[in-house]
Amino acid sequence: MAFESIKGTRDILPEETKKWVDIEKKIREVCRRYNYKEIRVPTFERAELFSKSTGKDTDIVQKEMYTFKDKGGRNLALKPEGTPSVVRAYLEHGLSSKAPFHKLFYIERMFRQERPQKGRWREFSQFGVEALGSKSPYLDVEIILLGMDFFRQIGLSNVEVHINSIGCSRCRPNYKKHLREYLLKKLPELCDDCKRKFKTNPLRILDCKVDRPKLKDAPHIYDFLCKECKDHFDAVVSILKKQGVKIIMNHNLVRGLDYYTKTVFEYVVSSLGAQNAVGGGGRYDDLVKIMGGRDTPAAGFAIGLDRVVLAMREKDVVSNGIDFFVVTIGEETEKIGFSILQQLRNIGFSGEKDFTGRSIKAQMRSANKSGAKYVIIIGEDELRAKKVRLKNMKTGSEEDVILNEREIARRISEC
Ligand code: HAM
Repeated sequence: MAFESIKGTRDILPEETKKWVDIEKKIREVCRRYNYKEIRVPTFERAELFSKSTGKDTDIVQKEMYTFKDKGGRNLALKPEGTPSVVRAYLEHGLSSKAPFHKLFYIERMFRQERPQKGRWREFSQFGVEALGSKSPYLDVEIILLGMDFFRQIGLSNVEVHINSIGCSRCRPNYKKHLREYLLKKLPELCDDCKRKFKTNPLRILDCKVDRPKLKDAPHIYDFLCKECKDHFDAVVSILKKQGVKIIMNHNLVRGLDYYTKTVFEYVVSSLGAQNAVGGGGRYDDLVKIMGGRDTPAAGFAIGLDRVVLAMREKDVVSNGIDFFVVTIGEETEKIGFSILQQLRNIGFSGEKDFTGRSIKAQMRSANKSGAKYVIIIGEDELRAKKVRLKNMKTGSEEDVILNEREIARRISEC
């Protein structure tokens, strides 16, 4: 009998592993720059950990968890997500008494018995970050920016940020009451799944793909937020805008896990089809307390790496593409070129130059082959004018930029 991999699982063969290793390297680089420290958690936990944190009425716990009894009769589950395990570890090891604020990241396999389809597997990998101990809106923003920075580093430029606030335990009940009143009238038209959710979690009806078009005039949660939640959300949105992040306000975004408070967001690549969320996260200010700890505001996200790889393949991103390639002509320009290369590397960009004294044409060929997004050309004329020529390799457009690493970095990051 020939064995086959279990439905929803798959092998990653060497050709693709290269891409994964590269992505993991980029994750560690980004997390180092934002000062997030790596944590590794077990593959399985007590099943109760997830019903208590992810939520007993969520799809994950109700329908998708791989649960089993071990020989000691313990009720266990393969972890379907990382946040509950990180919070458990945070409490178990008394991290809060070691420092008031912790920034953690993980790259872990997760397991959910969902119906497999494009972008959806039963075993998949997540890159997650969890920051515990701060209620500052700057933290929400830092987390969202970290994710966007990661997407930029791997060359995925078509990621949208969808954002909403789902309030807190003080203001959400009032919204739920109004939403229920509104939904009651619509109930006969809704799908069976939504009818069930009407009793357990009416908010989730808002992001039902089948029923969403019928709910266009549903009340917006923003209008029901208490002052604290509203101020927090307004601050997050305003800081994000100042940072130049284009956001899409999505009143229907509620997320499928119970622990969220205030900000929720998703990273979306529209071209991926039905499973277009490449990541999601938000605040979970009550979870540590629910799990038996002290009041500890927290926030985080998880990015689905299998979907990221899929999106990269669709966009034909060269997996080991670098940010820039420096092309120089002559000894003097090489001196400046090398110092620009090193300065940009020092502030986090990946770059390369020619080390074999080849012609401009040959250097341009190497730049092309390296998958560089930009080529920085420094010739004698540019050197005299204290400028460089910056070529966008995707669009082919060229422009002069002042010979200054900050200025070049700004232009490279903008596109
Ligand atoms: P989540 O939205 O359940 O959030 O999952 C995050 C990401 O994991 C999704 O956006 C998706 O890219 C990926 N993902 C989920 N299920 C599958 C699947 N069956 N196959 C492939 N990829 C999948 C969480 O897991 C939260 N723990 C995120 C978080 C961290 N919130 C706060 N901190």
